Amino acid sequence: MKASVEQRLETELDQFRKDGVYKQLNYLDSPQDARVQMEGRGEVIILSSNNYLGLSAIPEIIQAGQAALERFGAGTASVRFICGTFTIHREVEQALADLVGTEASLTYVSCWNANEGLCATFLGPEDAVISDELNHASIIDSIRLAKAIVKCRSAVYKHSNMTDLEEKLKSVADARTRLIMTDGVFSMEGDVARLADILELARKYDAIVAVDDSHATGVLGKTGRGTPEHAGVLGEVDIITSTLGKALGGAAGGFTASSAAMCDYLTQRSRPQLFSNALPCTVAASALAAVRYLREHPERVTRLHDSARYFRHRLVEMGFKPLEGDTPIIPVILGDTAKAIQMSNLLLGEGVFVTGFGYPVVPKGQARVRCQISAGHTQEDLDAALEAFHKVGRQLRLI
Ligand SMILES: Cc1ncc(COP(=O)(O)O)c(C=O)c1O
Repeated sequence: MKASVEQRLETELDQFRKDGVYKQLNYLDSPQDARVQMEGRGEVIILSSNNYLGLSAIPEIIQAGQAALERFGAGTASVRFICGTFTIHREVEQALADLVGTEASLTYVSCWNANEGLCATFLGPEDAVISDELNHASIIDSIRLAKAIVKCRSAVYKHSNMTDLEEKLKSVADARTRLIMTDGVFSMEGDVARLADILELARKYDAIVAVDDSHATGVLGKTGRGTPEHAGVLGEVDIITSTLGKALGGAAGGFTASSAAMCDYLTQRSRPQLFSNALPCTVAASALAAVRYLREHPERVTRLHDSARYFRHRLVEMGFKPLEGDTPIIPVILGDTAKAIQMSNLLLGEGVFVTGFGYPVVPKGQARVRCQISAGHTQEDLDAALEAFHKVGRQLRLI
């Protein structure tokens, strides 16, 4: 590397450290689970993973991946339309579509790619996309790409504000297609999109709706079918993107679920499909096993919600101020970034891994530690984590 570039990067990295925003990687030496082996720390309780259903270490899900490795080999070795589509892709795509309530689905190597491959593919200069201000970075980048590539229009509405969404819909009344994009569950706040209201506005203004359900697939709704099930509108959302890297086994991968025509169009035209390898068969098989496991074990979703309610309630009893909500994402607001990072470090010292977030990831003055509950946590795990919160909270005079 050229010395001048190296020097610039080192200077910026030093500044990240000074600003307290440098991310330290923690290495794990065991499967992702309620408790993991962390290098240099020993066993710690994980309260910061998206392994919501605790499926990543379930034997049948691991074995499904192993069997696919034997049957299909290490990888696709090409782009899907050239020579990379396997029967397991078709099988998992049908299972995912059935799960989220659409006609078809199409897998990608990540939900990031699924989002990135959406807007620029089917929108044009006559179209407009309207996005919630707290949408995930991959939606934001998808819209930026579409604006650069196909020159569509865009607007951003205030978080979950239906009055503002309606204004924005009126402002693009002349567009050929109006697309509303929202997260199903907003990952930093843990709140749920007002999906029924969004769909009502979409009907009124002849718009279509795309929901990124990455934090809701396997999580929300009585049987884990996501935000549409939670909101009582299963089968009514035009496009759902989601990840296989969270509740559905946690490996990696994502998908876009929609009508057969939309999925076929994306197969023909979306650039991450045309220029990047298919989802590895091992991952497709584990995800398929995860979907089947979820369908056979809806009690896992019930357990997840019971545990999240318990954890939230006990934090309030201790004097913490978690944001209200009914998802397993429980952000505890501390205000100051340094305090959130200090709390996260102290909790790790007590054997609990929970990440602190500060500005610019969250607004100034709203730094937080974000707890994520899993159905894999036992009562003992939850109580041990709560005891650590109590001890550290006292130490920092937060409670
Ligand atoms: C809402 C949302 N969308 C997309 C993604 C990206 O998912 P993936 O890891 O499959 O690329 C994430 C991951 O953090 C997310 O939270």
